[in-house]
Amino acid sequence: MEEVPSYIVHIKSEFLAPKVPKEINANESNNDKVVEEQKSKKRNRDAVKKTEIRYCHAFIGTGNCDNGLNCRFSHDLKSLLTSKPEDLGPSCYKFDKYGFCNEGVTCRFGSMHIDSTTGVNLSRTAENGGVLSRPIDFNILNKELQHLLWKKNYDYDDKKVYNNSHLNETNIPYPDKPVKLVDFSNKVYIAPLTTIGNLPFRRILKDLGADITCGEMAMSNNLIDGKQTEWALLRRHQSEDIFGVQIAGSHSDSMAKVSKLLNKETVSDFVDLNCGCPIDVITDKGCGSKLMTRPNKLCDIASTLLRNFNRSVTVKIRVGWDEPTAHKLVPMLQKINNGKLAAIMIHGRTRQQRYSKEANWDYIYEVCKSQDPTLPRVPIIGNGDILSYEDWKNHQNLVRNNFDDDEERGLCSCAMIGRGAIIKPWLSREIKGQNVYDISASERLDILKIFCNYGMEHWGSDNQGIATTRRFLLEWLGYLHRYVPVALLERTQKMQQRPPHFFGRGDLETLMASSDAKDWIKISEMLLGPAPDDLVFEGKIKSNAYSNESEMAMSNG
Ligand SMILES: Cc1cc2nc3c(=O)[nH]c(=O)nc-3n(C[C@H](O)[C@H](O)[C@H](O)COP(=O)(O)O)c2cc1C
Ligand SMILES: [Zn+2]
Ligand SMILES: [Zn+2]
Repeated sequence: MEEVPSYIVHIKSEFLAPKVPKEINANESNNDKVVEEQKSKKRNRDAVKKTEIRYCHAFIGTGNCDNGLNCRFSHDLKSLLTSKPEDLGPSCYKFDKYGFCNEGVTCRFGSMHIDSTTGVNLSRTAENGGVLSRPIDFNILNKELQHLLWKKNYDYDDKKVYNNSHLNETNIPYPDKPVKLVDFSNKVYIAPLTTIGNLPFRRILKDLGADITCGEMAMSNNLIDGKQTEWALLRRHQSEDIFGVQIAGSHSDSMAKVSKLLNKETVSDFVDLNCGCPIDVITDKGCGSKLMTRPNKLCDIASTLLRNFNRSVTVKIRVGWDEPTAHKLVPMLQKINNGKLAAIMIHGRTRQQRYSKEANWDYIYEVCKSQDPTLPRVPIIGNGDILSYEDWKNHQNLVRNNFDDDEERGLCSCAMIGRGAIIKPWLSREIKGQNVYDISASERLDILKIFCNYGMEHWGSDNQGIATTRRFLLEWLGYLHRYVPVALLERTQKMQQRPPHFFGRGDLETLMASSDAKDWIKISEMLLGPAPDDLVFEGKIKSNAYSNESEMAMSNG
């Protein structure tokens, strides 16, 4: 039998698909073609868009609008009703769950809550359960705060809080108060993940057993400038009971401002300083992993956070920039730690390596040992390549064998997972249950169905909301197909391995293993109804700072 190379997942021979000639199989070219076709359609659509009437969202949802006749948006529900395309499905998740859907006549699943002659939005009647209040997310940038930030009138040292009405003057935590550190030990922590790690995704991960979650990397200057899109990265769902926000920046003065801002105006258990982002646009500004080349600066920024943010602070680093330096940096951080550094997370690769090598856990243990034994140890959280409980257990065993006693270990028993959580969202359960779960394809599809529901709750169930939900679903599907069902495996799947072409145990499992973007669109249609003809999906994340990160993670064999 032909020897399977180590970079390929070892699959039982009966499931292997015959090799398909490159020109038919090349997903890249397929995807490129999809992109090209769709781009030209998008151009046409953009041309049409300009003439569209804009409708009043408040009126559509509630039948009321504070601006009355002066409203600059249309209140003509009837015209919306007559031009309404066919619904994408029979039941609206928000209406089912809460008895009210704010999307009214624009909801693409709205037949059950739209009056079919007037277009008026209906609420569930009391006999049918009435309307339940919908929980609000935390860390939403309100207009008053945004205005102050825009005008540069925000008073960073004033005790007044604009954003979180439940924090009144008496319970704003002050810097001199003792801090109760977030305890990461024995927890599963979902790494910050730009784009993929959006709020609906994190809700799914919480449902599936994750303990700690974190927002997507936000640029400190954009937060200070009151940019809505950046503040969206700090959003926290109710179910996220231990939650951090991650920031990137390179100037102590703006970091001081942003930590005061986050302190007062957000509800977050910890703030994480990004010292790992490898992307040029970030490192060119001196942020992300570039900070690792300037350890004094990095420590200066970390101590700024420690001084001004009065909950836990964590620092996420890599092994180094182009060579391992974390063992020199960590003792420096240990010195400035005034009892508020809750953890240092180490992604076991240098910036230069990106994702090209296996994470170097041996070096992570070395970093633990580099801590000064006469000072309080900072918990070190290792990160990289955990895709199964077995991976996790091996690291823990190695730690046990490497160190004499618990005190010396310093390596926190926290499972920090990035791509593992993307490819196997149920990984937290496996880690906690210490087992392997042979999940069926239909169960996997159910997870995606719930994601779509959460997505519609978060981004909306009108055309725009569905399009956004679909796009993020497609981004996720760009990873999910890498999962090989355990029953098909000859040996445990490793993060660095690529699956060969294989058949699943049924059509759905085979479809879910496809790396063709057209199949991802097909899956999205099973959940969100027909995709628009002009759908543009580029098959990889283009629009954010971690685009290359993600590409590297994907393309690496
Ligand atoms: C799609 C994607 C987005 C990421 N976004 C972030 C981010 O916003 N902040 C960050 O510190 N790291 C980010 N990372 C890095 C991960 O948090 C993690 O450190 C890295 O993927 C290694 O862990 P893993 O091998 O478990 O994936 C991202 C990684 C991926 C694949
Ligand atoms: Zn109006
Ligand atoms: Zn609806």
